[in-house]
Amino acid sequence: MPETKMISLTIEGRPVTVPEGTTILEAAKQVGVLIPHYCYHPGLPVAGVCRMCLVDVEKAPKLAPSCATTVADGQVIHVHNEKSLEARKGVLEMLLINHPLDCPICDQSGECELQDYTFQEGREDSRYREPKRFNPAEDFGGDVVYVPNRCILCTRCVRFMDDVAHDPALNVSERGDRALIGKFEGKDLTHPWAANVVDLCPVGALLSKDFLNKARAWELDRTASVCPNCTQGCNVIMETRENQVVRMRPRANEYVNAFFMCDWGRLNYRWMNEKSRVELPMVRDGANLAPTSWERAIASAASILHGKKVFVAASPMLSNEALFLLTQLMQSGAFRVVEGDEAPLPGVKDLALRRERAANVNGAEALGFRKSRDLLGGLAQGDVLVVAGEDLDGIDTSALGRASAVVVIGSVLPAGVTNAAVVLPIANFAEEEGTVTNLRGRVQRFTQARQAPGETRPSWLVLGDLLGALGQRSSFFLPSDVFAQLASSNKAFAGLSYDTIGFKGLPLATAEATGPKAPLAMGLTG
Ligand code: SF4
Ligand code: SF4
Ligand code: FES
Repeated sequence: MPETKMISLTIEGRPVTVPEGTTILEAAKQVGVLIPHYCYHPGLPVAGVCRMCLVDVEKAPKLAPSCATTVADGQVIHVHNEKSLEARKGVLEMLLINHPLDCPICDQSGECELQDYTFQEGREDSRYREPKRFNPAEDFGGDVVYVPNRCILCTRCVRFMDDVAHDPALNVSERGDRALIGKFEGKDLTHPWAANVVDLCPVGALLSKDFLNKARAWELDRTASVCPNCTQGCNVIMETRENQVVRMRPRANEYVNAFFMCDWGRLNYRWMNEKSRVELPMVRDGANLAPTSWERAIASAASILHGKKVFVAASPMLSNEALFLLTQLMQSGAFRVVEGDEAPLPGVKDLALRRERAANVNGAEALGFRKSRDLLGGLAQGDVLVVAGEDLDGIDTSALGRASAVVVIGSVLPAGVTNAAVVLPIANFAEEEGTVTNLRGRVQRFTQARQAPGETRPSWLVLGDLLGALGQRSSFFLPSDVFAQLASSNKAFAGLSYDTIGFKGLPLATAEATGPKAPLAMGLTG
């Protein structure tokens, strides 16, 4: 491979050396200087249309758009000198000519780049006295609504649909001060990845219908997590308000999802707020299940499992930690997975909404669970059945008759189970911490976004206590302790720990090597 030439320059007095072809804007990021920008996005081809990123390059005759200008040896660049600031102030003034001052009722308020840069370096007042242009809001289809009055015509949305989704649906219609984003005849934003335009829009011009008027940005708590809705394992930020998950947005990870997530995953979060849950540990008392203490419930479960052959019907939504602990108490285990249509995002290599709609199909298989459409097929006469995280919806429950006893470890009572001996309530995906393994064998951490209801406990804690009551090692104080034991006992997970995995994940020792998905716009090429 030819060696990459390195270029040295100075940005705001800070020396930096970057590969040839890097833009000034990206080079500045490396020394902690954020050059204001609107049309530039590292996941899109460069357009250079907004002029917000103008900087002063010494000896150059005029200001340079830093998103579209590559670095040169010995350049001295000023981002915050008077000349650059004055130019950007002018750009902001032009953008605000027709932009309504409706921040108090705009969904983007608090996370709007127009608000931020105007506050940072815009004019204090407007010199514009004429009435502002008005265009009505338009339903763009899918989850997207367009508010043209707020649009700054950066064309990020147009480029996403053209160059990343490969489904040209949007264009710049009209010209001059009448210009706005239009839809091509007969087109709608119904592409399975179209809602990414809402995240890409730097202002409140493209909004999510699902999130509309649900919360102000500053009321949200944000948690680094992984989308649990298919085996791709896109990195996300889970946002909660008053303990309810109200929005999921993509978190950049060049090894998994670049900057994007699909609409199915994004909008499929309501189950995490499910109200009808089992909230108390319960044991059978005659014909009924009676609430009891955790100690008694764990002791009852342990006495049922002790010395018996155990079959586990597990959910592929459970974490590696929970599945690993389940393997310690079972002789055999199976899982089933809901399937749907695969939907790729053509502009990013190996990124798709996957057919298998659960987070940890790969982890379950790596840990020894068998994937089967006949979930209870492996349940032998007289086995103890442990139903873990499975709702058994649509399953032929006549097989349950083969079990000598049923122990439920879950957040809801499974369909058709009328004779559970013990019920141990566990947290759902949004309520606990753990790891999942995606379809390429990448182990990724997720963290707790909301508080679990009632006396519900994290799955790894419940299973650790249960194993303790069965006389096995159980001194787990943290999910990372469970993971450490998993890594020391399973070759595929060898060498991994919560610290090394971090929040971008690491592949299993047995996974095929996959390179990073290079952002589309590192240089000037599209
Ligand atoms: S709708 Fe948003 S992303 Fe699209 S051009 Fe307008 S400001 Fe840019
Ligand atoms: S592709 Fe899969 S993991 Fe990614 S957002 Fe969609 S459902 Fe979630
Ligand atoms: S960000 Fe550089 S011209 Fe728009």
